[in-house]
Amino acid sequence: MASLVLFQMFGLLLLLPKTPLLASSLSLPSVLKPGSSLSVENKDDLLISPNGLFTAGFYSVGDNAYCFGVWFTKPLSDNSHTIVWMANRDVPVNGKRSKLSVLKSGNLVLRDAAQPLPIWTTNIIDSTKPAQLIMNNTGNLYLQNQDNQTIWESFGSPTDTLLPLQKLTKNTPLVSSRSLTNYSSGFYKLYFDSDNVIRLAYNGPSVAGTYWPDPKITAWVSGRSTWASRRTAVLDLSGHFVSSDSLFFNTSDSENQSVRRLTVDVDGNFRAYSLDESKGIWKVTWQAISDTCRVHGICGENSTCSIGPNQDRRCSCIPNHKMINHTDWSYGCKPEFNTTLCGNGEDDFLHFPHYDFYGYEAKFVRNTTLDECKQACLSVCNCKGFHYNFETDGYYSCYVKFKLINGFRTVSSNGSMYLKVPKSVFPLSKSKSIVQGDSLICSHKLPTIQIDRAYEKNPKNESVKFLMIFTYVFGALETICILYFFYRTRSPSTTRQGYLQAATGFQRFSYAELKKATNNFSKEIGRGGGGIVYKGQFSNNRVGAVKLLKEFGNNQGEAGLLSEISTLGRLNHMNLIDMWGYCAETKHKLLVYEYMENGSLAQNLHSSKLDWDKRFDIALGTAKGLAYLHEECLEWVLHCDVKPHNILLDCDWNPKVADFGVSKLLDRDVTLNSVFTRARGTRGYMAPEWLFLNHPITSKVDVYSYGVVMLQMITGRSPACDQSAESKGRLDRWVKEKMIAAGGKNDWITEVIDVTVDGKYDKRKMEILIKVALRCSEEDKDARPTMSQVVDMLLHVEDHSDY
Ligand SMILES: *[C@@H]1O[C@H](CO)[C@@H](O)[C@H](O)[C@H]1NC(C)=O
Ligand SMILES: *[C@@H]1O[C@H](CO)[C@@H](O)[C@H](O)[C@H]1NC(C)=O
Ligand SMILES: *[C@@H]1O[C@H](CO)[C@@H](O)[C@H](O)[C@H]1NC(C)=O
Ligand SMILES: *[C@@H]1O[C@H](CO)[C@@H](O)[C@H](O)[C@H]1NC(C)=O
Ligand SMILES: *[C@@H]1O[C@H](CO)[C@@H](O)[C@H](O)[C@H]1NC(C)=O
Ligand SMILES: *[C@@H]1O[C@H](CO)[C@@H](O)[C@H](O)[C@H]1NC(C)=O
Ligand SMILES: *[C@@H]1O[C@H](CO)[C@@H](O)[C@H](O)[C@H]1NC(C)=O
Repeated sequence: MASLVLFQMFGLLLLLPKTPLLASSLSLPSVLKPGSSLSVENKDDLLISPNGLFTAGFYSVGDNAYCFGVWFTKPLSDNSHTIVWMANRDVPVNGKRSKLSVLKSGNLVLRDAAQPLPIWTTNIIDSTKPAQLIMNNTGNLYLQNQDNQTIWESFGSPTDTLLPLQKLTKNTPLVSSRSLTNYSSGFYKLYFDSDNVIRLAYNGPSVAGTYWPDPKITAWVSGRSTWASRRTAVLDLSGHFVSSDSLFFNTSDSENQSVRRLTVDVDGNFRAYSLDESKGIWKVTWQAISDTCRVHGICGENSTCSIGPNQDRRCSCIPNHKMINHTDWSYGCKPEFNTTLCGNGEDDFLHFPHYDFYGYEAKFVRNTTLDECKQACLSVCNCKGFHYNFETDGYYSCYVKFKLINGFRTVSSNGSMYLKVPKSVFPLSKSKSIVQGDSLICSHKLPTIQIDRAYEKNPKNESVKFLMIFTYVFGALETICILYFFYRTRSPSTTRQGYLQAATGFQRFSYAELKKATNNFSKEIGRGGGGIVYKGQFSNNRVGAVKLLKEFGNNQGEAGLLSEISTLGRLNHMNLIDMWGYCAETKHKLLVYEYMENGSLAQNLHSSKLDWDKRFDIALGTAKGLAYLHEECLEWVLHCDVKPHNILLDCDWNPKVADFGVSKLLDRDVTLNSVFTRARGTRGYMAPEWLFLNHPITSKVDVYSYGVVMLQMITGRSPACDQSAESKGRLDRWVKEKMIAAGGKNDWITEVIDVTVDGKYDKRKMEILIKVALRCSEEDKDARPTMSQVVDMLLHVEDHSDY
């Protein structure tokens, strides 16, 4: 006993000069003597490593729920702690009378007062000699007996994190946490497989499978070796990761960075982090998977995964399906129709370019045609659809699927997904879009890079939102890089026409055809966005809108136009106008769209048919369309000319945003060096930053225009006409003045709204709508919300409206 105390004193003396910061470690020792315990009730019952970096003790994981674990002593900038190990992650103990004890026999035991049996123990059966528990400088918590042997260590039973010098072995997989706030075992695992390769696997309630390295290619092609005799991997102190399966990587930070960790995150990715001590945040210095939609399991059966510019993943149901569990996408989606597929060949297909579903193939046919592939699927009852892919060898292949799992959207793939739909349902599927409007809000917005894991009593959106802010910056940068890469590596002009059509899913019209359809361009239905729009009558009585692009650069060949509109063609949303095709013949460049019966919002602003309910729906629908343009699709299309003339209405008065991306088409040769050529859009709706050369143009210009349009729709006043001398103000200023003048009384609403509009309105709903519109038209672009935040805010009033 005396020797132990001496040992301890000696240790402390040795280490003291190096740790002047932690004078308190004198009272908070790093060693727990045999026969003593740490109690959950005593907040000072902690073991702190001599260098002060790591703390072991009871950690609160919920109301009256504690886990014994090890964490980084220093809190992050948001005051949360980063846990590196837990003894009882799946069975938290009571906040009263729970204890961790070092038994005289040398075992470590965690007891919950309410339970007769220990919750957790080290189970060293042959140990008889006393041992002490030591919190080491490396983050290892270990039991050392009197012969200085280590008889148990926390490094030998990791949870989701590996520290430098901690070995990953065949018996010690890493298992992710369940969620950002729930530390119990989740579904993602990093482990040494039986072929000696380190893999990531998803092991969910209904499906399972490995997804890293890419299961489509062999371990050998992924650069891994299957011939290792031992299975170990370790990150050294300089940030070099070395594994027996030849997985080597170096973290991207400098070698002398001191604090690192490797974690299997709740989103299924495996990442290396370094602590930025000055800012108190973790920085990602390496990650296993960059396209996070390749992680399996997040979006369940019958749903697809896509990535927004914030690198957040979103799940969406395939058409005619709805989410099974509204809080958890991993349950997937179920059909809304009750007709069985395989109604005696009475099935049809919906076409989705650039979508794929991984695995679950009933049949694979090489070198085949689309018709043969359709037949192959129609002839099998359990076929849910097929993937038709242009392979690198120059032939098309057909992958017939019996389950639609792990769906993802990929710009780099040449393939298309064809979903089987019963004919009886087919004409009803009004929206062909995979990304249904509600996917924006219902999707589980998991940040790809998660920097902390604070426990919050109310695990609602707050912590996630907070994390999102960090991910925004990183994600945006990364997206830009990825997009740039995709763009540079794809060169549609060198590929054959047939492939172009398959990939873009467009019809190519001839000029003569369009001339005939529009009756020699006789019926003009609109102007703007660089061209005139004509009504056209197509075969099988379809009515379309044909836009003649007038300024399109003549030096642009068909491939140039195509590469741009293939981007637009991939956009698919119920609140965006549908593009049917294009024409590109020498100097004639035309685009063909669906035709909207009820014209534009501009034409209907003063229509008595647009009551307040419809106006609110138009506000919401337009926001959804723009949010999709800005965020859901990978390319980040800015509209740049949002105005009532470009918001079209279908026969149910659903809004559809038109003319998006056209500014981009026309922009190619325009140099951005003068205010005049730079400023686009329409007077009155143009964001202030257009006028300043050194202000970057972001999606917030569309948010501004949206705000103005909404104010116009509510007040009935035109922003463009209010240029008269005395009302030198903008529409938003006018509304704000009225609001302030009313001094908080509810009456201000009646003063600003258009009195000619019929129908009742919900005061609360109207108030929110006006306030959202005002925030959108803020002069400072950073004060404006994003379009998806607008959608969230508007949907939120809808949900809570007692109207
Ligand atoms: C304790 O930490 C030192 C470095 O401070 C390391 O060399 C030693 O191996 C660690 N011991 C255990 C059992 O982890
Ligand atoms: C954490 O997840 C597990 C497994 O789903 C569940 O049993 C447990 O109740 C959750 N804990 C909390 C605090 O939500
Ligand atoms: C990591 O860095 C070491 C030396 O700093 C170098 O020898 C090694 O090749 C690097 N490994 C990788 C995968 O870049
Ligand atoms: C939905 O998912 C949540 C979280 O996983 C779960 O607690 C709940 O029981 C599920 N609801 C249904 C109806 O399955
Ligand atoms: C997915 O959709 C198919 C039909 O499209 C259906 O048979 C299957 O049960 C769905 N899966 C789930 C989990 O509901
Ligand atoms: C692909 O199919 C076509 C038509 O069936 C055939 O002429 C051609 O030889 C096939 N090519 C290969 C490589 O099998
Ligand atoms: C809008 O559509 C409805 C239904 O198709 C039609 O009755 C109405 O006349 C249309 N209104 C306008 C202004 O075209």
